[in-house]
Amino acid sequence: MKIDFENASFKDFENIPGLDPYAWADLWSEYVDYKTLRGQMNYRFEVQSGCGPVVKLRVPGIERQDFVSLVSNDYLGFTQHPKIKEAAIAGIEKYGSGAGASPAIGGHYDFHAELEMKIARFFKRDAAITFTTGYTANSASIQALLKKEDLAILDMAVHASVQEGCLLTNTKSFPHNDMEALERILKNSKDTYRTRMVIIDGVYSQDGDLAPLDRIVELCKHYGAYLMLDDAHGTGVIGKTGRGVIELYDLYKEVDIITGTFSKTFAHIGGYVVASPNLISFLKFQSRQHIFSATATPASICISRAIDLIDEEPQWMDKLHENMNYLKQGFMSLGLKTTDTKSAIVPVLVGNINQNAEICHLLLQAGIYANQINYPAVSRKDARIRMSVMATHEFSQLDKVLNAWEWVIQKTGLVKK
Ligand SMILES: Cc1ncc(COP(=O)(O)O)c(C=O)c1O
Repeated sequence: MKIDFENASFKDFENIPGLDPYAWADLWSEYVDYKTLRGQMNYRFEVQSGCGPVVKLRVPGIERQDFVSLVSNDYLGFTQHPKIKEAAIAGIEKYGSGAGASPAIGGHYDFHAELEMKIARFFKRDAAITFTTGYTANSASIQALLKKEDLAILDMAVHASVQEGCLLTNTKSFPHNDMEALERILKNSKDTYRTRMVIIDGVYSQDGDLAPLDRIVELCKHYGAYLMLDDAHGTGVIGKTGRGVIELYDLYKEVDIITGTFSKTFAHIGGYVVASPNLISFLKFQSRQHIFSATATPASICISRAIDLIDEEPQWMDKLHENMNYLKQGFMSLGLKTTDTKSAIVPVLVGNINQNAEICHLLLQAGIYANQINYPAVSRKDARIRMSVMATHEFSQLDKVLNAWEWVIQKTGLVKK
């Protein structure tokens, strides 16, 4: 079996015909060596300091240690906030290091119940369930709610966790944010399925753009479909008080199911589903990944503190927006092509997988840690460098990023004059 390593992507190794997984792994290792030798395997570097605007990083072949980091979803910088660290430590002091059981049979503590109520109230709702990751919040709840009689209607750019959630049901996808295509699917699938659920992100994780929530709510109501919204990247970033796109559009009550993660602005790990009390009660006992898996550790008490701090210290969101605008303006003045981003995710479109990897490596040489995003996370022609801004970046650090990009442009001719 031959794979053209120069033009291959991770997807080519998923299921190789005629070989068993050990042979896949051998071929995969050859590919990793090939890419590493060419400076194109810019993933999984060992970070040797806390999550922050500058990190200590070990990059093979590069001497420097300190890098301006643009890879973190800790948008408000709360992982380093003294009050949040203090809450996590106090949680461990009071309850110990682990929860010890799954929720139905001993692992549901008062701090879990408090967190569920807090995140529900955050979105002006009455009930929520938590999961140990945002990934399972999506995949597990969809698997519990949609079966082979049903239909999930997905924006093509939804997160992988939603795609996985849909393995037990039928799916139809519409091109990203294409409302005419969504309406066509809703019209044509009428009376064919028991339940139809439109599933979207609030902020899309690769483009950083927003869902047109007002139009989607209108279409769902008109055609009798439920609506599920994952606002993992919008919460704490979008809307006057950080409630995400539902706040921006003032559609708190109109979205049937809100999901999200505690791993980004909430500075810890875990996920949540907010919905009607009965639906939440159903998920508590019918979602397999919830009922058969141990609950979050006592350190997760810090999430409740993070939820409070979003309201108590709005200055972090203000600074984040200042930083987002500063970096976007800077990229525009350099002539770089970006997306219609309205969030803290700022991509620069490169369009060629190998050039993308080369640019990622050049940025590392210049002391900038950013992510190369390639197929299958985005289509091949949409290969990009994705950067995430934090409230705790200083302008001088963002200037370093812009200077590095100027150097990259000179070296690669990325911007055509
Ligand atoms: C849109 C979206 N949903 C869900 C997740 C999964 O969240 P977690 O990291 O908590 O598993 C991510 C993670 O990057 C995401 O981008």
